[in-house]
Amino acid sequence: FLFFLFYMSAQEAAIRHMGNDLEVGFYNQTCPRAEQIVADVVSRGIETNPRNAAGLIRLFFHDCFVNGCDASLLLDTTPSGESVEKDAGANGATLRGLDIIDEIKTQLEQQCPGTVSCADILAFASREAVARSGLSNYPVPAGRRDSLSSRVVDIPGNIPGAKLRLDAIVEIFTRKGLTIEEMVVLTGAHSVGASHCRFFDYRLYNFSTTHRRDPNLNTAYANFLSSMCPAQQFFLFAELIRGDQPVYFDHLSPNRLENTFYLKLLQGIALLESDQAMANTPGTREIVNRMAFNPGEWSNKFSQAMIRLGMVEVLTGIEGEIRKDCRAVN
Ligand code: HEM
Ligand SMILES: *[C@@H]1O[C@H](CO)[C@@H](O)[C@H](O)[C@H]1NC(C)=O
Ligand SMILES: *[C@@H]1O[C@H](CO)[C@@H](O)[C@H](O)[C@H]1NC(C)=O
Repeated sequence: FLFFLFYMSAQEAAIRHMGNDLEVGFYNQTCPRAEQIVADVVSRGIETNPRNAAGLIRLFFHDCFVNGCDASLLLDTTPSGESVEKDAGANGATLRGLDIIDEIKTQLEQQCPGTVSCADILAFASREAVARSGLSNYPVPAGRRDSLSSRVVDIPGNIPGAKLRLDAIVEIFTRKGLTIEEMVVLTGAHSVGASHCRFFDYRLYNFSTTHRRDPNLNTAYANFLSSMCPAQQFFLFAELIRGDQPVYFDHLSPNRLENTFYLKLLQGIALLESDQAMANTPGTREIVNRMAFNPGEWSNKFSQAMIRLGMVEVLTGIEGEIRKDCRAVN
């Protein structure tokens, strides 16, 4: 019986944890135009700068993986005065699309004050970014509430870095309630957007004691990357020329979400060591292979996985609050 009780509460915790109480059309009565307003602002933002689509998708991932999809990422300050998630090196100046979230919130506060959470705005906005990047639209369950805190110390162990071993990355995803397949499928988001040189240039110049260059890196691609990200001694000069410009994950179609990402992994064409590891490790290699040769399967699974990402550790009901300004608690 005790076992049964324990089993039940573990089940309940799992259900709560995965946000199964969110619903599609949550704002039907209270703010019927909410999703349309988000779609319009995001579309304009992406027309102005196509790079915003990738930025919005990454904002959603980084929010959901740190204390759940609760818009904690968006806070500039909190009542405790602690350093916030945005202060982390993994976030900081690499975040894009924050201005679009602000604009959406301003419009929604005019239409339906105090109604639509910043956490739901991130979910709707990332869905729109996915749709604008070539995949089909998908229904987004909503009803998330916003957090009252954000702490930079919660970044390590929750946001994976490109140098992190694959088993440690798998551990993070499974701790969030996502599967290994969902991890591989979601990482296909690295078919859009870009990475700064500092997250991968050690693969070109300072990989290990035995190899200056990462042996898993395709030679022609490595040469191309070296021209984009020159070695330290030439770096200052390069900075003068191109600044700290990030390098596209896919320089031929930087704004299209597509499964060619996986085909490239199979050829050693990957910016990040963590992405390459998925193709080179038993257990994920089979999934990479399947996604590489089945575009329809990947795009369906990507949408499903975005919905599941949006359910990670959400606040609902009377938990948290509905922020008036996504950058500050009420
Ligand atoms: C599996 C572990 C992951 C690692 C180690 C990782 C790491 C990184 C790094 C280092 C960058 C470059 C950031 C910059 O220099 O600005 C990046 C960019 C990006 N990541 Fe990931 N990421 C991971 C998974 C994901 C997932 C699951 C998603 C979304 C579902 C995602 C979406 C993106 C997007 C869209 C960009 C481009 C952002 C832009 O162009 O502004 N990543 N990631
Ligand atoms: C909101 O409206 C849509 C479309 O009519 C419907 O599919 C959905 O179930 C509704 N949701 C709620 C919570 O009322
Ligand atoms: C090369 O890597 C080693 C070990 O990670 C590090 O200590 C060293 O500072 C790196 N050198 C350069 C030039 O980045």
